[in-house]
Amino acid sequence: MRPLRINPVHCLKGELVLPPDKSISHRAIFISSIAIGKTKIRNFSLSKDCLYSLKAFKELKVKITKEGKTLLVEGRGLRGLKPADGPIFVGDSGTTIRLLCGVLAGQNFNTTLKAGLSLSRRPMKRVIFPLRLMGACIESLNKKNDEEYPPLIIKGAKLSGIDYTLPVASAQVKSSILLAGLLAEGITSVKEPIKTRDHTERILYQFGVDIKRDKQKIFLKPPERLSSPGEILIPGDLSSASFFLVAATLIKGSYLKIKDIGLNPTRMGLIRVLKRMGAELELKYKIPDKDFQEPSGDISVSSSSLKAVQVKKEEIPSLIDELPILMVACCFAKGRSIIESVQELRVKETDRINSMVEGLSRMGARIYVERKNQVENIIIEGKTPLKGAKLKTFGDHRTAMALVIAGLLAEGKSLLDDISCVNKSFPNFLEILKEVLH
Ligand code: S3P
Repeated sequence: MRPLRINPVHCLKGELVLPPDKSISHRAIFISSIAIGKTKIRNFSLSKDCLYSLKAFKELKVKITKEGKTLLVEGRGLRGLKPADGPIFVGDSGTTIRLLCGVLAGQNFNTTLKAGLSLSRRPMKRVIFPLRLMGACIESLNKKNDEEYPPLIIKGAKLSGIDYTLPVASAQVKSSILLAGLLAEGITSVKEPIKTRDHTERILYQFGVDIKRDKQKIFLKPPERLSSPGEILIPGDLSSASFFLVAATLIKGSYLKIKDIGLNPTRMGLIRVLKRMGAELELKYKIPDKDFQEPSGDISVSSSSLKAVQVKKEEIPSLIDELPILMVACCFAKGRSIIESVQELRVKETDRINSMVEGLSRMGARIYVERKNQVENIIIEGKTPLKGAKLKTFGDHRTAMALVIAGLLAEGKSLLDDISCVNKSFPNFLEILKEVLH
């Protein structure tokens, strides 16, 4: 446990380079490990989660050398992974375990995947079910009330392509099916009710896979091999930037320039919503959104006053990880904000509806949950000045960082019970924040 005391601040000023994108780093290590040829991954995320993906592929006998944030991966080919010497422990990384299910389902060996405490409580059936339809043989050692949790035993099997419609909009599930599709017989297609982050599609295309999108559906033709483009450069993480964007918008007199950040449209929901609320954000593209590249560039943000917003269900996947910090922004926006269909937050690292409603309510926010059948909306009445309070992170990195920003904006001191969880995605969050605080 590492507690943190937070005092209000005057403003945020400066130029920042933030950590590499976590989602793209996972994909980079996955795809280059099963490709032919060497891949140099530049600006790989050293977050705890991505290091679990790295460790997993080392255990599957992929040769990976690491020098700072640069990795050299000697890909073993689609069927060249070798069995691990024992169970692979994936910590609390949901992306690692769900994507591994897809990669390992079609191998000719068996693997056991074990998880940490928080991931052992997160649902796996959403991935296991479609993979079983493809012929996968995956067993959960922890089943409860019609749900399946880690540990998982994956017995390598012969797979066939499927045509699957995702019941929940999830990039992890979509990616797992597409990765299994690489080893399946025939075409695999996945229909998304709402478009989710498309990093897997983009990187597979960069490695020569015949992958296409037609409206809501993605089609993947199993390739002979994945051919490494030689080098991958990972942009900064927009989800990590979101805490700084909201802080600089809300703290008067602030100005920040965030350099070389990923600007993939499937991740930019928060930017679109903040602009609707009246935020002053300026984007300058350095790598454009074309040829299935990962676009990136600089974002400048100056403080401004915000008005309330209505966020629709269709927007949720593009800002799913930014919902905690958006809730903080809504407390300071004039009027009643409604964020629709946020129930997926219940199955993140912690129940983020509970963690954020509890934390912000303790600070005096007027934040409520409205539930109709399976759908949950968040209602926030603004502006409400927040007061410093004793807060709990529930061991969740995004709750922790959102509450740190809420603490900077509050009147009086706040005390957070444990900040160590930020290592999951953003190990030097506090150091970088301190650099720009005035
Ligand atoms: C991720 C997808 C999202 C997101 C998670 C990372 C990914 O999860 O919340 O932090 O890298 O594919 P879901 O796909 O479960 O929504």
